[in-house]
Amino acid sequence: MHAPRSLLLLPVIIMCLSMTGPHTCVASHKKDSCHVQDGRADCSHLSLKAVPPNLPRSITGLDVSHNRLKALPPGSLAPYPGLLHLNVSYNSITKLDQGLCQTLPLLQTLSMEHNEVFVLTNEDVSYCTNLTRLIMASNVLKLQGEPFSALQSLRVLDVSMNKLLSAKLGSRPQLPSLVSLDLAFNSFVTLKKDDFLFLGHSPSLRVLNMSSVSLKTLETGCFEPISGLRTLIMDGSNLGTLVISKLCSELSGTAIDALFLRKTKLITLTHTTFAGLQKTNLTFLDLSRNGIEKIEGGAFSWLSRLQTLIMTDNHIMHLTEDTFKGLTSLKRIELTKALVKSHSIPTVDDFSFRPLSALESLILQRTAVREIKEHTFTGLTSLRELDMSWSSCTSLRIINNKTLVSLAGSPLRKLNLTGTAIAQINPRSFSFLRNLTTLLLDFNFIKQTLTGKEFEGLDRVEEMHMSNNHQTVNLSSTSFVNVPNLRVLNLGRSLKAEAVNMDPSPFRPLPNLTVLDLSNNNIANIRENMLEGLVNLKVLKLQHNNLARLWKSFKLGGPVLYLKHTPRLATLQMDSNGLDEIPAEVLRGLSNLREISLANNLLNSLKDSVFDDLSSLRVFNLQKNLLTAVRPNVFKTPMSNLSLLLMDKNPFDCTCESMLWFATWLNGTHGTAVPGLWDRYLCNTPLAYFNHSVMDFDGLSCKDMTLFQALYILSSTAVIMLTVTALLLRFQGWRIQFYWNVLINRTLGFSDAKVEEGREFEYDAYVIHAEKDADWVERRMAPLENDSCRFCLEDRDSVPGMSKLESIVDNMRKSRKILFVVTETLLRDPWCRRFKAHHALHQVIEASRDSVVLVFLQDVHDYKLSRSLFLRRGMLRSCCVLDWPVHKERVPAFHQKLLIALGMTNRLQG
Ligand SMILES: *[C@@H]1O[C@H](CO)[C@@H](O)[C@H](O)[C@H]1NC(C)=O
Ligand SMILES: *[C@@H]1O[C@H](CO)[C@@H](O)[C@H](O)[C@H]1NC(C)=O
Ligand SMILES: *[C@@H]1O[C@H](CO)[C@@H](O)[C@H](O)[C@H]1NC(C)=O
Ligand SMILES: *[C@@H]1O[C@H](CO)[C@@H](O)[C@H](O)[C@H]1NC(C)=O
Ligand SMILES: *[C@@H]1O[C@H](CO)[C@@H](O)[C@H](O)[C@H]1NC(C)=O
Ligand SMILES: *[C@@H]1O[C@H](CO)[C@@H](O)[C@H](O)[C@H]1NC(C)=O
Ligand SMILES: *[C@@H]1O[C@H](CO)[C@@H](O)[C@H](O)[C@H]1NC(C)=O
Ligand SMILES: *[C@@H]1O[C@H](CO)[C@@H](O)[C@H](O)[C@H]1NC(C)=O
Repeated sequence: MHAPRSLLLLPVIIMCLSMTGPHTCVASHKKDSCHVQDGRADCSHLSLKAVPPNLPRSITGLDVSHNRLKALPPGSLAPYPGLLHLNVSYNSITKLDQGLCQTLPLLQTLSMEHNEVFVLTNEDVSYCTNLTRLIMASNVLKLQGEPFSALQSLRVLDVSMNKLLSAKLGSRPQLPSLVSLDLAFNSFVTLKKDDFLFLGHSPSLRVLNMSSVSLKTLETGCFEPISGLRTLIMDGSNLGTLVISKLCSELSGTAIDALFLRKTKLITLTHTTFAGLQKTNLTFLDLSRNGIEKIEGGAFSWLSRLQTLIMTDNHIMHLTEDTFKGLTSLKRIELTKALVKSHSIPTVDDFSFRPLSALESLILQRTAVREIKEHTFTGLTSLRELDMSWSSCTSLRIINNKTLVSLAGSPLRKLNLTGTAIAQINPRSFSFLRNLTTLLLDFNFIKQTLTGKEFEGLDRVEEMHMSNNHQTVNLSSTSFVNVPNLRVLNLGRSLKAEAVNMDPSPFRPLPNLTVLDLSNNNIANIRENMLEGLVNLKVLKLQHNNLARLWKSFKLGGPVLYLKHTPRLATLQMDSNGLDEIPAEVLRGLSNLREISLANNLLNSLKDSVFDDLSSLRVFNLQKNLLTAVRPNVFKTPMSNLSLLLMDKNPFDCTCESMLWFATWLNGTHGTAVPGLWDRYLCNTPLAYFNHSVMDFDGLSCKDMTLFQALYILSSTAVIMLTVTALLLRFQGWRIQFYWNVLINRTLGFSDAKVEEGREFEYDAYVIHAEKDADWVERRMAPLENDSCRFCLEDRDSVPGMSKLESIVDNMRKSRKILFVVTETLLRDPWCRRFKAHHALHQVIEASRDSVVLVFLQDVHDYKLSRSLFLRRGMLRSCCVLDWPVHKERVPAFHQKLLIALGMTNRLQG
């Protein structure tokens, strides 16, 4: 497990060693040496007592923060003259040496927070003319003279948390480039008129942070020298209403743009608190976490240019028609947790928001409002977004055509009613929100059958979320007829189990739907046409349902192919559905699918090529199934172009047959991320590999195995073949040979007749006949005998003294042809069937002779013939097969034919 990580580290270590030598660079996972990358050396958290001397000379950044440096002698930095950024924060440095900037003439950033720098004099930073950022936060600075006066380039100066007793950092104008000054967490309580005189010639100053400075008095004109200030941060300063009022009047006439007054104990906003801001162009005001309870009418009337007002976390009890008077430019107001239930429920009067005619976003998250009245939102003529998520308001429990009617004049686009305890939506509740595109109804208690009337008038809605509604929503075929432009529909954890099981499908009216979420609904029944017409569907979420039955092979009527209507599908999530099989045809045609998730199912053996159409797949999740094998027939195509594979937590069978291909695939480089490859892909079987990573599986052993297997198969086949051949030869050899010979003779006209012809035969034919047919033979065959034609008749010619068997054998050998007188009786004659016929054929084969003549006295079926004599008519030349004629006049012709059959040479003519 450690091998690959150290392999990864190797280049870093080598680089590090080559640049710094082994002294500061030790190969180990735990950092105990500097880490150099991109010209920056990170030597933080090393308990160093001095700056390491042997880092690469070329570094431009050095971080020695969180160490034990007590001083920063310029000599220790001499090896790194190119330093631009130096971070020595979190040490115990007590003095800033004047040689520092002489040694590091290019230094731009010096971070020294959390040290113990005490006295700072003129000389200390006098050479730091290139410095742009100086962070001296959290020291114990005591300024002597004009220490910062040389810092011509300084843009950021942070002297926060220094217990400074005055904001005055100098007595004459300096810091001409300063943009941001941080004086937060210091101890001064007064701002004197001339405190900021030292910034009088700093035209770029934009940001002043005096957070947590508990100002008590502000002398008139204290901000005059810095009237170009844009952003003032006074968070946590506990100023109180009076001081804030004074602060505002001091800001009058300045360029102030953003004012942060978070946590300043501003409990009451009086009519005049912000009066001083009238002569400013303030656009941003943050009044969060003030515990504001009361806002006097007209309190904001001075802020006609304000665009953003944030009042998160307050205790406002009452909004009236006058509260927001004068905020004519306001575009966004955040009232998250600004009205909360305490001893009573806050009230919002009719027309409270009417002054906010420019308002585009009204955020009322997590507020408590007694009720929404007929004119609560009247006058919000520019409102595009209303967010009342997680608010409590009894009016929202049952929404009807009156509840939100005060929004009728607003061009609302987005309505967020997440978590507002809605139980029911009545017909035409949103019908006046003609411009609405997004309707969010997640986390409610909606319990009804959606007939479609609820959404009347929402024909511009493109996104509707109704997830987490306690599975009490029921659908009908018309549920979405009034929202035909819907692109995103989220019904996760909201529907009753049978809600989608209807014809026509509730989704039929939604041709533009691209995302459909039906997850977590315990749906068990889906009709094949549920997604019909959703040709644009790209994302389908069906996880945590109960859909296994629909894909069972034994299901009556076959698997339900509900995915066949969605050719553009790019993402399919079917985790946790109890799936134990995937029929080959259900994923056909999904060639655009980029992501499929089948985690947490019971998939074991997958059919070959079930994923073969998924040629665009990039993300494949099969975590936590029962897969034992990963075979190429199933996975080669879908895994050919993956960027992410999740297949861990399966009980892999680490045998060559199941795992060789996968192990080899994992070993290759595909640009595929496989998280947990080393510790979560474990073998379950065989025992030898149990609980080992599949990466431990030795593929090489399979190479031997395949060779072995091939040899094994080869040798066993050979043995079986030999055995079969031997058996065949033993029991049917003559027949094979016979057929073979006949075949050869027939097709090639080949024969060894010459050899035979030279042999002496005593008889021209050995006649085999049944006892019963002896008469016929006597009468019809015997007369044909003459000098040149002799038959061997068994009864007549058997050799005396020889056994019957021997005699037959002997005589057959002496005969040139063997003539069968075929009748049904012959076929039944056991002697004939068994011995004579066999021997005859044996003889025929041995002699390689085409020497059998059949004379049929009766019509005998070929089948019977072959059963009894192992001969077929077709095996013989036609002239060797003779039929005893019925008509007497043909007998001479028969004789002629017989003589031809017997007299002809055994050698075949073509
Ligand atoms: C200096 O180091 C401290 C502590 O690691 C860090 O918080 C700070 O951001 C660093 N300063 C700069 C300018 O990188
Ligand atoms: C400031 O940096 C420039 C190069 O950027 C250099 O030429 C100049 O000498 C530096 N100033 C001082 C005072 O070292
Ligand atoms: C406010 O803005 C207007 C024009 O936008 C400008 O004329 C005026 O000087 C600004 N007021 C202050 C106090 O900066
Ligand atoms: C709706 O409100 C919820 C809860 O406050 C929030 O998480 C979500 O981001 C909001 N949605 C939009 C689109 O503003
Ligand atoms: C509002 O609904 C009520 C009954 O629920 C109905 O009588 C009334 O006409 C509806 N008003 C509008 C404007 O649709
Ligand atoms: C809806 O938007 C259109 C412009 O897209 C605008 O003309 C119309 O007045 C708006 N409707 C309402 C009710 O504001
Ligand atoms: C679907 O979207 C297209 C353009 O994106 C639009 O022209 C069409 O009207 C929409 N279909 C429906 C039924 O709203
Ligand atoms: C993985 O690849 C390395 C070298 O590329 C090879 O040595 C090793 O045997 C391979 N392992 C498997 C299981 O194929």
